[in-house]
Amino acid sequence: MKVSVIGAGTMGAGIAQIAATKGHEVYLYDSFDGAIETAENKLKKILNRMVEKKRITQQENIEILERINFTKEITEVSGSELVIEAIIENLEIKQKVFTEIESLVDKDCIIASNTSSLSIASIASSCKNAERVVGIHFFNPAPLMPLVEIIPAVQTSEDTLNKAKSIIDSWKKETVVAKDTPGFIVNRVARPFYGEAIKIYEEGVADFATIDWALKEIGGFRMGPFQLMDYIGNDINYTVTETVFTAFYFDSRYKPSFTQKRMMEAGYLGRKSGRGYYNYANKIPRANEDRVLGKKILWRILAMLINEAADALFLNIATKEDIDLAMTKGVNYPKGLLAWADEIGVDNVLQQLEDLQAEYSEDRYRPSPLLKRMVTANKTFY
Ligand SMILES: NC(=O)c1ccc[n+]([C@@H]2O[C@H](COP(=O)([O-])OP(=O)(O)OC[C@H]3O[C@@H](n4cnc5c(N)ncnc54)[C@H](O)[C@@H]3O)[C@@H](O)[C@H]2O)c1
Repeated sequence: MKVSVIGAGTMGAGIAQIAATKGHEVYLYDSFDGAIETAENKLKKILNRMVEKKRITQQENIEILERINFTKEITEVSGSELVIEAIIENLEIKQKVFTEIESLVDKDCIIASNTSSLSIASIASSCKNAERVVGIHFFNPAPLMPLVEIIPAVQTSEDTLNKAKSIIDSWKKETVVAKDTPGFIVNRVARPFYGEAIKIYEEGVADFATIDWALKEIGGFRMGPFQLMDYIGNDINYTVTETVFTAFYFDSRYKPSFTQKRMMEAGYLGRKSGRGYYNYANKIPRANEDRVLGKKILWRILAMLINEAADALFLNIATKEDIDLAMTKGVNYPKGLLAWADEIGVDNVLQQLEDLQAEYSEDRYRPSPLLKRMVTANKTFY
């Protein structure tokens, strides 16, 4: 199959690597000077490292690279069965590119966007045959992260959705289907992991190291929220939060924080700038390993995460299985949030949220109606 990838940045180059590894003939296109050369050099380095680590053979390395055609000519997309766009996150530019791609490919070609925050419906509206447009959302780094969210727009045909899903399944990725709503599954459900952690810090309940320790040691998360925000970059993480908040018509549940905004403004972006919540030139401060405090912190963040997952289910954003799979495979949560709720008791989760709501009088803590209904009916998620 001929697969074209538009945009040879972080995500595009990774997607091209996956498609070529799976045996497709790949065209990787970028319009900016030097972008194609940079992508080619980066990919060569990555593949060489994979050979050193014995994850692929030298022969496979050669074959993968032979299958990738690096191009600056968009007309080369013609004849593709699948085009995946991964250019700059700007609606007008994406729409222009989609219109152009549609004029070059056959009527059966699927045109997909890897957008993280734009609506697939708005991108699809730039095509005459919008039924062929779908969201295929990879996570960074694409070759390593197992999860891919497949997002049908209101215009997407059943056939396009099924074909897109089966192609990505055949690439040995874990696919979940999400409604075309802000943040899809992962970037929506994960918001309290960052937001509630920052709020706990702002209230002076605990410092960064203690909150991180609680989530890791007691909760079993691979990274604490501050460690993770420093890893993602405070600029990127803040922008996602602000975008989701705006897209949800300023629902206070997704409200960004001044703490993170100031970090971004100060250039304390995290690991990439040497300093974020932590100063990486110094030793990481010790946590206050008080288990009573740690459990309180974990419990508050976890209740908020479960509420978000339950509300996503309530609003039919995805199935309960896909919501749980998305969080375990997309952001490495130790358990699916809905399965976790069953384990600790949906009534306990609801109680925690009602206590927070009563204490703060804030809509931020409003429990999902689904949790209330489940407790009344004495039901579990599974
Ligand atoms: N970086 C992430 O963690 C991540 C994760 C999932 C999805 N995404 C999404 O993937 C897309 C790309 O993100 P990225 O991080 O790879 O960005 P990037 O800046 O690394 O790469 C974008 C590339 O697109 C090229 N480009 C820009 N406009 C173009 C045009 N009109 N025609 C052709 N090429 C053009 C640029 O030269 C650049 O090489 C965005 O929609 C983003 O929301 C990013």
